Amino acid sequence: MSNIQNKVVIITGASSGIGEATAKELASKGAKLVLAARREDRLKKLQDEIQTSGGQAIFKVTDVTSHEQMEDLAAYALKEFGPIDVLVNNAGVMPHSFLYKKKIDDWNKIDDWNKMIDVNIKGVLYGIAAVLPSMRERKSGHIINLSSVAGHFVGAGSTVYAGTKFAVRAISEGLRKEEYGNNIRSTITSPGAVKSELTQSITDMDLKPGIDKLYEDLAIDAESIARAIAYAIEQPSDVAINEMIIRPTYQER
Ligand SMILES: NC(=O)c1ccc[n+]([C@@H]2O[C@H](COP(=O)([O-])OP(=O)(O)OC[C@H]3O[C@@H](n4cnc5c(N)ncnc54)[C@H](OP(=O)(O)O)[C@@H]3O)[C@@H](O)[C@H]2O)c1
Repeated sequence: MSNIQNKVVIITGASSGIGEATAKELASKGAKLVLAARREDRLKKLQDEIQTSGGQAIFKVTDVTSHEQMEDLAAYALKEFGPIDVLVNNAGVMPHSFLYKKKIDDWNKIDDWNKMIDVNIKGVLYGIAAVLPSMRERKSGHIINLSSVAGHFVGAGSTVYAGTKFAVRAISEGLRKEEYGNNIRSTITSPGAVKSELTQSITDMDLKPGIDKLYEDLAIDAESIARAIAYAIEQPSDVAINEMIIRPTYQER
């Protein structure tokens, strides 16, 4: 029997890209999935698809920037499926831009900075806060956080996004140091370019064409990351895959 069979897994950002692919991969291995994101129609469609193929999935519309909604999500998972085995903190946004530009309308980039901090950092923290008490109680659990190659290297134009992804790695390592003694595993997953909707939020036209071209040239399928996440989950409980970088073979940085 797969070590994923019957595990209760919450996935944030399950409505597209890596989250959606991970949900399908884990469903095929028998996990009980709790799908979360803001777009209800996409979650419902994914739930139906999984259930039609014989998998187990429920969903809850959740904005990860709300601490209360993340607590409600964990409570819902507990009520419907029982103790939470795994949280995949996957929701993220990447509206890249330069820190400074002359045009006055670029002041709205402040909103993008706030969004990245709220979703990519606070969302991850709220997820940890929502599941850790029950994992602690059971002395069992696994928290998987999505960082990025941008959590290892900073490029011009990706400063704030990279800052949030460095933060995800720092938080994950702190989580590991604080919780390894409680049998709680933590995994940092750092993808390179992956086909998804992530680049759609980039509005800076000095950056977008170059990034679109890079993704067109070499981005890999979201399923590649889903398989890596499944690998981390399916290890025996005394084995922790703490960090993974998964790049397209042809990606230099
Ligand atoms: N694709 C890449 O090249 C790449 C590379 C490195 C790291 N990553 C990381 O991988 C993760 C998944 O990204 P992806 O590539 O799969 O992109 P994606 O297709 O755009 O998916 C992002 C997901 O996050 C959800 N989300 C965004 N804001 C949210 C919020 N406030 N509350 C709840 N959910 C929210 C979106 O759902 P709703 O809009 O329905 O809420 C969506 O399901 C992100 O953390 C990203 O930074 C991606």
